[in-house]
This record gives sequence, C-alpha cells and structure tokens, in this order.
Amino acid sequence: MKKKVYEKLENIVIIGSGGRENSLAWAIQKNKLVQKIYLIPGNGGSEKIKKCQNLTLDYENKNLLIKTLNLLEIDLIIIGPEIPLAKGLGNFLRSKNFEVFGPNSDGAKLESSKSWAKSFMIDANIPTAKFWKVSSVEESKQIISTAPFPLVVKADGLASGKGVFIPETKEDTHKIAKEIINGKFGEAGKIVLLEEKIEGPEISIFALCDGKKYILLPSAQDHKRIEENDKGLNTGGMGAYSPTPILTKSEISMICKDIIEPTIDELIKRNIEYKGVLYFGLMITKSGPKVIEYNCRFGDPECQTIMPLMDTNFVNILYKCAKGKLNGDEEVLGSSKVSGCVIAASKGYPENYDIGFPITFNCEESKDVQIFHSGTSKDKEGKIITGGGRVLSIVCQGEDFDNAFDMAYKVLKNINFAGIYYRKDIGHQVRKNYSYNDT
Ligand code: AMP
Ligand code: GLY
Repeated sequence: MKKKVYEKLENIVIIGSGGRENSLAWAIQKNKLVQKIYLIPGNGGSEKIKKCQNLTLDYENKNLLIKTLNLLEIDLIIIGPEIPLAKGLGNFLRSKNFEVFGPNSDGAKLESSKSWAKSFMIDANIPTAKFWKVSSVEESKQIISTAPFPLVVKADGLASGKGVFIPETKEDTHKIAKEIINGKFGEAGKIVLLEEKIEGPEISIFALCDGKKYILLPSAQDHKRIEENDKGLNTGGMGAYSPTPILTKSEISMICKDIIEPTIDELIKRNIEYKGVLYFGLMITKSGPKVIEYNCRFGDPECQTIMPLMDTNFVNILYKCAKGKLNGDEEVLGSSKVSGCVIAASKGYPENYDIGFPITFNCEESKDVQIFHSGTSKDKEGKIITGGGRVLSIVCQGEDFDNAFDMAYKVLKNINFAGIYYRKDIGHQVRKNYSYNDT
C-alpha cells in the first residue's frame, strides 16, 4: 500500500491579502480533508469563501504569530506575497517546525534581486536578454551611449512591479537610470540593470517544486498594461487567461528542458532547497523562449485564473512540496475548460487612486463564475468597500475563451463602484468573436 504523505491536513494558513490568496483559499477549501483556512490578514471578501476566516495579525510580530499557529494546530502555511518570502518568513516558520509552501529567503532572491537572478541564469546557461549591471550614473551613461538601443531599465530590488521602464529615447533612458540610482526606489535601486529589449508574446509558467521535483500548472498569459491594445503604464496585471494556446506540447517540453530543469539544478547546486512555486516570466522570441524574470510566488491575476481549473487534490500537492515528497507525476488539472480573468480597478491605478467606495454586486457566483476580492475591505457596518488599486478579479470558465470572457464581461456589467475601470480587451489574443470596435 502507498504510504500517505499527509498525515493531517485540516488547518491551513495563507499569508497575504490579495486576489491571489483568496483564489488559493477557494481552491483549497474544496478538499474534504481541509477543515479551516485562516488568511493573515485576508481582505473584505475572504470570509465569503467556505471554511475561511481572517486573522488580523501582523506576521512581523513573531511571538504572537507562533503562539497563534500553535494554538490553531496549523498543518500547512502558504506564503503568498514576495515581501515576507524575501524577508525570511519561510526560514523562521521552518525553524519552528511548521510545514511551509514558499521558499526561504535564499530562493526568494530569484525575485528580490534581478542582478542576482541574472548571474544565476548565466551560470546555469538559461536563455535571457543581454544585460549590463550598473551602480553609478557615470557607468550607466557609458553603457547607454555604447550599447545597442533600446534598453530596458530595471531597479535591482523589489519595487511592487513599478521598477521596470522601457524608455523611447536615449535621453529618457539616461534620465530614468539616473533617477533610480539617485534613490527613486530607495535601496531597491542601488543597482540598476540595463537590458537588451527583446520581443515576442509573454507567458507565465508556474512550477510547483519540492526542492528536487516539480509539477507544472497550466500556462497563463497576463495583460500588464493599464490600457486597451497594451498601451499605457505597467500594472500588476489587468487580466489573464489560461491555458495559453500559443505553446505546443513540444515547446513546453523544450521550456522544461532548457529553462525549468536547469533552474532547479542550479538551485540544488547552490544548496538552495526551494519548496514553493517558481514563476517563470517568459518571452517567446524568434530565437526561442527567454526568461524575462523569475518570481518566487504565484502571479496575480494568473493565480486567480488558474485555480478554478485545479483538482481537489491541489492542496495535497502543495503539502507534498512543503514536505519535499513530490512524486513528480501528480495530476493537478481537474477541468478541461479554459479560464479567463478580468480585473476591476480603481480609477487612477497604477498611480494615485481613492479607496473606501461602496461596491454593489447585482450578480451571483456559480460553478463557472468566481468573484475573487483583490483590494477590498469592510466599513463599520460590514459593507464591502474598495480598498486597493486592483479591487476585484472576475474569473469565468467556459468551453472556449469567447464563452469564458463573454460571461466575465456580463458579470462586470452588474458590479459597480465609483470610478470602476477595466480593460475591455482582455483575452483578445484568443477570442474568435472579439473585435476592438466592440469595446
Ligand atoms: P518585469 O517586472 O521584470 O516582469 O518587467 C515588466 C514588464 O516589462 C515585462 O512583463 C515585459 O513586458 C517588460 N520587459 C521586461 N524586461 C524586458 C526586456 N528585456 N525586453 C522587453 N520587455 C521587457
Ligand atoms: N501578474 C504578474 C505578477 O504577478 O508579477
């Protein structure tokens, strides 16, 4: 008889407060073993998910955190965002003998230092854009004047997705590099990367890792820009769809062989035990897939898009990753449908925006319709109000993408808050009936 890896998987904690964490909770509650899911801190919509409870607890308050986790007999902790991962919350919880899904700070460096990630890729021979690392205005001037134009300018450290610029002139390239070096992003910009600009469709690939083996999730495509037709400022992501039909099976095998496996081998070589999700931000260029960035967490809104496709055993797989006991051949997919997500944002996002507006919902969730809260809270009377730049993630599944996105946009017509904004063209790449003039 096969020995069960999960002796007890009743009480789960998810750290984070976004749509990503709510969608993880939603996928996890489907498993019969799970009794209770605590979100620390969660948001205005977390407690509408079955078995879920918010805990307003600061994870930086280490004594209280451990006391609470012990009291609640927590079996598995999932760390959602990059900041606690980079700060070593995983290391700390593991040192207290908790099972954790999410890498230690050494593995999180793949996201928290872009220059470190670049050296890592060079050592492992992983295809990526050419780059120059600079730490003074003089150095950056010299590179910008001699390297082929255009260049992408990136702050080395974490900048909440706002640290990447693609200037249109050499003059602007100088200007932004100088601003970053001079402190626009504080410590995160002490080192600046100047990168060759590469071209092609972007894909997000997620590998659940147990330190040695991995399982792939269906691929997804994000929509980074704020405006339709992929114009305007970069955002955290305005919508997504999954799986992406652009990749054939053989291309996915190539990505595994040339990118995913060398990444895991290099982590092992560096004695980094990576137990969590590896997020590969890829660009499919004419000369093949290249890594644009690594992240040490699930993408948002890709996670909301993928979670409804997961089988009820999803939480077991996260647990096996935490324990280092993945077989490597587990099935995660529980649906043959496709999934699409549209983000409803606050007017002004990704720059300044107001919060605190009441949200009205004249629609219901159903088997194929999920309304995950991204940035919401509750007012004194318990009514749901806006609480962030990205407010709601509307996710629908269908037989095809036309079907899924038609549903999502129908739902959005029945949701309202002051200043609601969403892109009307999410999924245009895969919608047969889509015409930009319809929007
Ligand atoms: P990142 O935060 O590193 O994912 O970068 C944000 C976005 O900037 C990416 O999703 C790409 O659209 C774009 N980008 C980053 N690096 C490059 C590059 N070397 N060439 C072209 N586009 C890039
Ligand atoms: N959606 C992109 C990210 O999570 O970084």
